Amino acid sequence: MPLRRTKIVATLGPASSSPERIAALIDAGMNVARLNFSHGTADEHRERARLVRAVAADKGCHVALLGDLQGPKIRIARFANGKIQLEVGDHFRLSTSHPLNAGNQDVVGIDYPELVNDCRTGDELLLDDGRVVMRVNSVEADEVRCTVTVAGPLSNHKGINRRGGGLSAAALTDKDRADIVLAAELQMEYVAVSFPRDAADMDLARSLLTEAQSQAWLVAKIERAEAVADDEALDGLIRASDGVMVARGDLGVEIGDAELVAIQKHIISRARKQNKLVITATQMMESMISSPLPTRAEVSDVANAALDYTDAVMLSAESAAGQFPVEAVQAMARICLGAEKHPTSQRSGHRLYQSFERCDETIALAAMYAGNHFPGVTAIISLTDSGFTPLIMSRIRSHLPIFALSPNPQTLGRVALFRGVQAMAFNPANIPAEQLYQQAIGTLLKHGHVKPDDWVILTKGDSYNASGGTNSLKLLQVGEQLV
Ligand code: G6P
Ligand code: MG
Repeated sequence: MPLRRTKIVATLGPASSSPERIAALIDAGMNVARLNFSHGTADEHRERARLVRAVAADKGCHVALLGDLQGPKIRIARFANGKIQLEVGDHFRLSTSHPLNAGNQDVVGIDYPELVNDCRTGDELLLDDGRVVMRVNSVEADEVRCTVTVAGPLSNHKGINRRGGGLSAAALTDKDRADIVLAAELQMEYVAVSFPRDAADMDLARSLLTEAQSQAWLVAKIERAEAVADDEALDGLIRASDGVMVARGDLGVEIGDAELVAIQKHIISRARKQNKLVITATQMMESMISSPLPTRAEVSDVANAALDYTDAVMLSAESAAGQFPVEAVQAMARICLGAEKHPTSQRSGHRLYQSFERCDETIALAAMYAGNHFPGVTAIISLTDSGFTPLIMSRIRSHLPIFALSPNPQTLGRVALFRGVQAMAFNPANIPAEQLYQQAIGTLLKHGHVKPDDWVILTKGDSYNASGGTNSLKLLQVGEQLV
């Protein structure tokens, strides 16, 4: 059975927090556990993080933790009776002065005073991910007056988006800042920023992480219309991040579902071109919240993201609160494996006509070119400090597994998200130079990833712990006398 290249991010929640469930999720193929800071207490996240680390260590595998910040989602306040039903043609007001817990059939409070400055007559507001839609008739000093155009129930704390984007709350709230400190405490490998507007939002998140002494890599969730308005905006966000998430829930609401598929493909390809990671998220297996099997449309959605060479596909409510979290991960794993058999998953024209900028990058890309074109090769080994060398390798389409060998636990967790990359603990520090290759290959042999006579490509630098130092590529035949 080939190793799966496309990684699986599974959100943990009430349905997936026992040690047994977490163990079953890891066995099913979870590579990254997502802790959603929009729900749950800090202690619940601490406990889940502890369990993931303990179970993964027990199994000898590497699972990354991704903390997803809640962000500045603009929400309505509460209704006196918890919920109302709106019909087409109803007049409804969103008020910045109405008491926050006393919404009724005509009006609900909102604790985002800027709403009146952000809205214009004629705007379309989407509540609860578009389940209820209203058109703005007029904007007063303390309220926005609307007419309902899509009917539905509306309950406490539902989110508000504007068609076309432009509701402009700052990206990092006080809660997000506290959660960044929590992510640092839990040594999370990844932190995702919700609703970033531009590079400055990501820069701020990065400086807060650094201040909290976190080494986490930053993921920008692409979910505002402004973020995909043009390539300059998108590239700016990608450049300021280590990876991006195609956050299809809010993005789909803001730009409309018809635009979403093309934009998803575009985001995946732009991120990869810039040597960044990309996660495809939201509703991928939605029906599996209550069904043990995905629909054919869901199968196709996951397979298409895998064919487009996303690093990872993601589960939200399916694994956090659904009835079949383990089955959902299993289904994703088998669908990805199926898609990866397709020839377009294995051939690459990446950067064929471009020059490279750095020595380590040149070695990494040369290794993939050699591996893809020399049929005896069955594995690529990259000795890595930060994960940079295997990151560059994994931007290239290939059928070959890339083994990232590192002594650094953060790096081993980090590479769990990279497409086609397998983490292996390996410390070159005390290995005599003449035994290094043999021992590195021995690690793969031990796990059955290579067999005698296979060819293996190995990259490394001259020192054993210098990030950025990769400068050599070696072709080795397994079982030879290696020196
Ligand atoms: C390890 C290897 C070095 C190599 C480095 C590359 O430390 O022992 O020989 O130069 O990784 O690290 P990077 O973070 O750039 O992938
Ligand atoms: Mg979102």
